[in-house]
Amino acid sequence: MFSPVAIGFVQSPYKETSKIPRGLGAKHDAEGVLEILREFAPGLMDIEGFSHLYVLWEFDRADGYDLIAHPPTDEKREHGVFSTRSPRRPNPIALTVVELLRRDGTSLYVRGVDMLDGTPILDIKPYLSSVPEGKLRRGWLAEAEARKKQG
Ligand SMILES: C[S@@+](CC[C@H](N)C(=O)[O-])C[C@H]1O[C@@H](n2cnc3c(N)ncnc32)[C@H](O)[C@@H]1O
Repeated sequence: MFSPVAIGFVQSPYKETSKIPRGLGAKHDAEGVLEILREFAPGLMDIEGFSHLYVLWEFDRADGYDLIAHPPTDEKREHGVFSTRSPRRPNPIALTVVELLRRDGTSLYVRGVDMLDGTPILDIKPYLSSVPEGKLRRGWLAEAEARKKQG
């Protein structure tokens, strides 16, 4: 197995997890900056052409893991960790899709951050969605949303 290295760090308005929107209907429109380390700068060539990016990052402030999670989107039910986005997972790797607003050198200004300030970035890739909406199944989340609507 390889040992991941941080390619940069997130500048986020969130200093504590309680401030990050969570639960059903939570909107992630906070702006932040992906500060890429100088040694990785050549890897940013051509990134401006993409409107959205996948950001892989480390849940560096998670402590251990649970195979059964209690997501805030479905508080009364438990789900296997691999069917959730819980920070407490065997490999503490997170994935967020952000909108790229602009680039200034090694600084990528983005919208849609849901990570804490100072979070290590593991990788960035262009976001290219190829799954038609009609083909997507949302699993237990769709059921949780329907239950919420019913009140
Ligand atoms: C539900 S996870 C989703 C993260 C990512 N979008 C994903 O799907 O992998 C987002 C939560 O992770 C927690 N979090 C954010 N940054 C973190 C960090 N650096 N270390 C540990 N937990 C973090 C916060 O509680 C935040 O609300």
